[in-house]
Amino acid sequence: MSGLFISFEGIDGVGKSTQADLLELWLTEQNKDVVRTLEPGGTDVGVEIRKILLHHKGDLAPRAEAALFAADRAHHVASKIRPALSEGKIVITDRYFDSSVAYQGAGRDLSRTEVRDLSLWAVGGLLPDLTVLLDLPADQARARRNTSGTEPDRLEKEKTEFFETVRSAYLDLAKAEPERFLVVDASVTVEEMQELIRKRVAGLIE
Ligand code: TYD
Repeated sequence: MSGLFISFEGIDGVGKSTQADLLELWLTEQNKDVVRTLEPGGTDVGVEIRKILLHHKGDLAPRAEAALFAADRAHHVASKIRPALSEGKIVITDRYFDSSVAYQGAGRDLSRTEVRDLSLWAVGGLLPDLTVLLDLPADQARARRNTSGTEPDRLEKEKTEFFETVRSAYLDLAKAEPERFLVVDASVTVEEMQELIRKRVAGLIE
């Protein structure tokens, strides 16, 4: 596979999509072929799965939730990500594999190893070349989310404590794979964050 695969991660409200947008813009300006996508819901099947994951009223068993995220990802990789990478494109995804390990593996009481194995199976072992983790304390991320004015979805309704657990799981993942992760302090300005990200990506596309 000859393309470049970049994922953005972090708890809800840290500003992943803004940073992914700016990176996409910068790469496109350099005439790079970029596929911008997201999880859950990066495909037509994924859009259906996303409705259940984010808007289902009532209980959803933790293992069912993990399996649905894995199903979304399996189809996303097979139908969109792998084909783009094999055509040499740059794929930028807003969330991927590590979201499941952090949210389902740590946030819900499932084993991180089991969720990791499930997700790795779903994607046939495909990991990003670079994962940008935007890091911010949960209370600050929540404050940013509240300014958006939209109704919170099923996961956004979780307590600050849940997001602190997810945040620390992300930091553990980054520590375990320092070559794959770029951890960016999301309390700095949008421009400062983007500069750090571009510097790292520049080293990968030369
Ligand atoms: P979304 O509206 O896309 O939020 P964000 O802009 O923060 O990415 O909602 C995705 C939600 O799903 C978010 O709360 C994180 C959660 N999620 C998981 O719990 N596990 C996963 O594997 C993925 C991809 C997302």
